[in-house]
Order: sequence, then C-alpha cells, then structure tokens
Amino acid sequence: PDTHRVQDRAAETGARLELGSLALPAVPGAFHGTPDTDLSTAANQEWAAGITHRIRGSELGVEESRAARLTTTDEVETTVQAALAAQPAWAAMPVEKRALVLRRVAGTLAAHRAELLEVMASETGKTFEQGDPEVSEAIDFALFYAEQAERLAARRDLALTPRTLTLVTPPWNFPVAIPTGGALAALVTGSAVIMKPAPQARRCGALLGRLFHEAGVPEGVFTLVDVPEDEVGRSLIAHPRFDQLILTGAYDTAALFASWRPDLRILAETSGKNAIIVTPQADLDLAARDVALSAFGHAGQKCSAASLVITVGSVSRSRRFNAQLADAVLSLEVGEPVDPTVRMGPIIEPPGEKLAAGLTELGEGETWLAEPRRLDEEGRLWTPGVRIGVREGSAFHRTEYFGPVLGIMHADTLEDAVRMQNGTDYGLTAGLHSLEPSEIAWWTEHVEAGNLYVNRGITGAIVQRQPFGGWKRSAIGQTAKAGGPHYLLHLQDLADSASVP
Ligand code: ALA
Repeated sequence: PDTHRVQDRAAETGARLELGSLALPAVPGAFHGTPDTDLSTAANQEWAAGITHRIRGSELGVEESRAARLTTTDEVETTVQAALAAQPAWAAMPVEKRALVLRRVAGTLAAHRAELLEVMASETGKTFEQGDPEVSEAIDFALFYAEQAERLAARRDLALTPRTLTLVTPPWNFPVAIPTGGALAALVTGSAVIMKPAPQARRCGALLGRLFHEAGVPEGVFTLVDVPEDEVGRSLIAHPRFDQLILTGAYDTAALFASWRPDLRILAETSGKNAIIVTPQADLDLAARDVALSAFGHAGQKCSAASLVITVGSVSRSRRFNAQLADAVLSLEVGEPVDPTVRMGPIIEPPGEKLAAGLTELGEGETWLAEPRRLDEEGRLWTPGVRIGVREGSAFHRTEYFGPVLGIMHADTLEDAVRMQNGTDYGLTAGLHSLEPSEIAWWTEHVEAGNLYVNRGITGAIVQRQPFGGWKRSAIGQTAKAGGPHYLLHLQDLADSASVP
C-alpha cells in the first residue's frame, strides 16, 4: 500500500472517462489520480487494521507542529524577510532542478502514503477510502506541475518571470492535495512560498512541510506558519510583500482577504452549491449511486459535493429514483474513519448554526426521505440526510451547508432544471445524468459552472484530465484551473506582450 506507480491507465479507462466527463479525453501518459490501494484486499485490510490499532492507541499522528508559530507582527516580518532572502537563489536555478525537486516530493509523498492517511484520519476525520485518492492527487499535482514548468520553459514565444513571494492558504477538507498543489505550483515557477494551513489541519500541514523539506525544498523557500486569527494573522495575510495569494476556502474568507489587499493577485477557489440533474433519459441505477457518493463522500464536506438533485418530469413522479436513492444512502456505513468498512466518517466539528439548521429544520413543503440522526454525544457522527420537496428560491436551494445533507427538487423540464441548477450565487460543479445526446449538448451550453460532469459523480476531479476551478461566487480573482495547462502561466509575469489564455 505504500507504493504509488505512475502508469498509464488511459487505455483501460479511456472509454468510461470520455463518456463520463466533458473534460479532455484520456491521453497517453495522463496522470491517473487513482489510488493503488484497494482496501478490499486481505493484505490491505490487515494494514488498515494496524493503523486503526495505532490511532486508537494514540501512538501515532503526533507529528509535532513544525510550523513557525508567529505570535507577533515582528515575527511575521522576520519570516517574510527570510523568505525574500531565500527566493533569488531558488529562482536562479534552472527550471529542471526545481522540477526535479517536485518529482522528489512526489516520491516522498508516495513513500509516506500510510502516514498521510493516518494523519488525515486522526486529525480531520477523513476515511482511508477518501484519503487514499487524495494522496494520489497530491502526487499527480507534483508530477504534472514539474512537467508543465519544463514545457513552459521550453517555449520560445514566452518569457516568464516568477513572482517573488506567494501566500498559500489551503482548507482543512483536502489537507494534503490542495496545499501540495498550491505550494508546488508556485514553487516550481521560482517563487518562495509561505503557507498557513487551516487551523483544523495543522498536523497534516506540518507533515507535508517536513516531507517537502526532506525532498529538497530549501528552508526559507518554503515556510509553514501558524498564526492566530487576530491582528497578527491579518498582518501576515495583508503583508505588502506578497505578490499573490492562492486560497481555497469559503467565499467570505476570500472576499475578506481581498478587501485587506485590493491590489493582491488572487487565485481563489471558494464555495459551491452544486446540483445533479437526473432526466427521464438517465440510467437511474447509476444516477442514484453517483448522487449518493457525490453528496456524502467525506460527509458532504467538499466544495464540489452534490447538495441538490433535481429530478425531471417522470423521474419525480415515478418515485422509483427516490426509493433507489434512499436505499443507496441508507446503505452507507457511518462511523469512525479508521474503520475500513466505513463509507461516511464524522464531520470536522459539531455543526454550527447553519449546518445544524440544514440537518434539523425543514423548509416549507419539505419532508425527510432520510432524516439525519446524530449518533454520538459530541455531534460529529450523523447519518446522511435527504429532504424532498425543496422549492426554488428557498433557503435549502441557495445555501451551502457543507455537511451530510442533500435536497431533492422537482422540475417539469430540463430547461426548468437548469434554471434551478444555475439559480444560486455559485458555479463550482454541476452534473447531468442523461443518456440522450441532445440533452447533454443542450445542458452543456446552458449550465453555469466551472466543472461539468455527465453520467458520473461530481466530486473527484483528476489532475490534467479535469482541471478544477470555479465560476461566479465559486472563485475570486483569476480563474485558471488547478491541475490544468494554464495554471502555472497565471502564477508568473509575462516579460513580453503575449496574453495569457
Ligand atoms: N478537487 C476536489 C474535487 O473535485 C474539490 O472533488
């Protein structure tokens, strides 16, 4: 389970990917984003049981925080100055050397796959099933950005200069892949990086920081920091020497940071309120499965998660789809992440006001198809909730809850369904289940979201194949997609007059 083989699975999965996604068809040499760890094998179950034992016995996960703890504005200043001092030598290296460091990071992450899964599970509640592809995604980011940096450097029509200092503020829900992707993208261009992990995922960040340095990222070029959310934190985020900010998090956080430094270049991927449309032309078995997994993977705590399903015409009237969906949802085993049979782990912390309302309060006309039940004292373990009768324009239609609750809406026609799908402030992921080509074509033209998925789930974008980014309030600033061919271009300055695509 500790190995990660980069291999081309395009041939075996190509047909499915082409059908299942509007992203580029699989190409030879594509990164796969698929874990090698099949948790159903006996050997891996034994391995998982070993981890379980160590987590329960609290032996593990005690990755001492290696982050520089900044408690004063003077300490912020010293850290920024150290990064500025380290950057010129890093930027002066040939790009091949920086790319080599990224490839070493990929190898180091692969060698520490088990430790990464352990820390994600113990600190953030991420199940092994969800954490495993995340480690693969982090590895893919490292390999992809290494290759992209070399490709860009070889282009004679582009003269790119790095930006000196990048701030990276990743979220807690993808505490390995997103920080790795953001930090390495900036690093490979020649920028120095200061990264502030989410407070709920400090140990994940600390482990990554150690692995980056072990792989050869110099001290000072990459610095992990821990700052309180007060004026010291603000003095870091608003520090005038940052050239750019790579943020993944809530829209309001990104908007706040942007207001502190209106001149800062920002690449922010923010909130979502994502829906999957199911038409009468869909394979309903597949749709029910994909909706359940998209809604309840990582307990719904993904910006990409399905929070709404919009059934069209006879799909709503026949009740068959709802029954299948209820079956699929109720079959998801809920429990602690260290149990390999668990399909839905805990939420990160007991629900705040908004999520509590999503889990317990029904809007006008709504009823529970599956009522969420709290399973533990603390309020972190919930059974998945599904409400039906969600009305257009209602609170549930428009609010991001970021937890294990899904709403079903009904639309008479596909046009009505797309209006509802687009009828939120956000535009991150969107899905359509239909086997009818004319419906797929029409939907593709009219849906407003950064990431479109046909006949597959709407989470789990794959580096290179499905670059990931948002539209509307699901992004702030430049909208280059992470894991895509333009991302590194947007992190650098063009020395000539060419425009960035
Ligand atoms: N990139 C993550 C996904 O696609 C958010 O689910």
